[in-house]
Amino acid sequence: MPTSLDRRLQTELDAFRRDGVYKQLLYLDSPQAPRVRVEGRGEIIILSSNNYLGLSNQPEVVAAGVAGLERFGAGTSSVRFICGTFTIHRDLEAACARLVGTEASLSFVSCWNANEALPATLLSEHDIVISDQLNHASIIDAIRLAKAITKCRSAVYKHGDLTDLDEKLAAARDCRTRMVISDGVFSMEGAIAKLPDLIEVCRRHDAILVIDDSHATGVLGTHGRGTAEHFGVVGDVDVITSTLGKALGGAAGGFVAASGAVCDYLTQRARPQLFSNALPPTVAASALASIHHLEGHPERVATLRSNAAYFRDQLSALGFRPLAGETPIIPVILGETAKAIQMSALLLDEGVFVTGFGYPVVPQGEARVRCQISASHTRDDLDEALEAFKRVGSRLGLI
Ligand SMILES: Cc1ncc(COP(=O)(O)O)c(C=O)c1O
Repeated sequence: MPTSLDRRLQTELDAFRRDGVYKQLLYLDSPQAPRVRVEGRGEIIILSSNNYLGLSNQPEVVAAGVAGLERFGAGTSSVRFICGTFTIHRDLEAACARLVGTEASLSFVSCWNANEALPATLLSEHDIVISDQLNHASIIDAIRLAKAITKCRSAVYKHGDLTDLDEKLAAARDCRTRMVISDGVFSMEGAIAKLPDLIEVCRRHDAILVIDDSHATGVLGTHGRGTAEHFGVVGDVDVITSTLGKALGGAAGGFVAASGAVCDYLTQRARPQLFSNALPPTVAASALASIHHLEGHPERVATLRSNAAYFRDQLSALGFRPLAGETPIIPVILGETAKAIQMSALLLDEGVFVTGFGYPVVPQGEARVRCQISASHTRDDLDEALEAFKRVGSRLGLI
């Protein structure tokens, strides 16, 4: 018997369908890889996964997960300080810190959780957190939570606008701690934050800089160490948060990498640490194997870069105008949400899985399809996808 809540939600869901913004889930019957088997559709090329290095299905990453499962069992059975921390978590945290160039790190079940933990634990009513306008939803919600819990102040600076940030920091000079948060790579644009400028402004105002490198870890820099390596400033970012659920094997999990004091304080006081189970050991073991693989195979990052450059160039040659950039996130702006959803559906019919994004995920009138390239895509995968773009682009009058 539907409740009044069910009826209300059903009306809204019907409106999503009518407006062409209903998200249809595709069920995969194979591991994440350049080509996946989709229930009811057969094999398709996937251009919408964060499996940037192709490690989700890397044999030693999968084998490490199986070995972790056998050695440590399925679950953690409680939170870390209550029933014990597995040695695999300590090993993983040492590897994450080494990879991104900080003294320490602390793992969480997701980067969403890691972001959520940060301002709400470290700030108080004497402090302020200042956020880039286009930061990820997890940062936006983390700040909302921090304000509700701690009564800290908050401000938003215009996307990538260091002058605006400078002014916001100057206006916050009476605060005890000023925390500035920015994505390292902005996931909807593929744009890279101007890290050296951010570091300079933050130093000048004695502010703590937090970079969410979820789309940069394993992607940017010669060795995939992230935005800081890209700019040659490894060791100069106060706090880095990142996910284990994208380039690093794609299972799940996230971490805060920072000084020993920050990580220890989060261990003592972060509510997602104190009241929620840790990452399953099998996931920690796979993530650790992914980091070892990345450390031993920097050529994988180079392949990712050349695949992304190839795809961006070829899309332009076809007559599309992808956003310029250096990352494997390649958006093609189409305007209206329904258009992006339509293009995504037509591409899927052509055997290519590319997600369409519309308002409110991106600003009104800037709906887009977003391609994400992997080091594991072959030139054949990319060329086949480009053929599909050509057919769909002509059909929609885009090229
Ligand atoms: C910038 C950014 N931060 C955080 C997250 C959340 O990561 P996780 O899936 O580990 O919670 C994402 C995932 O989409 C992201 O793009």
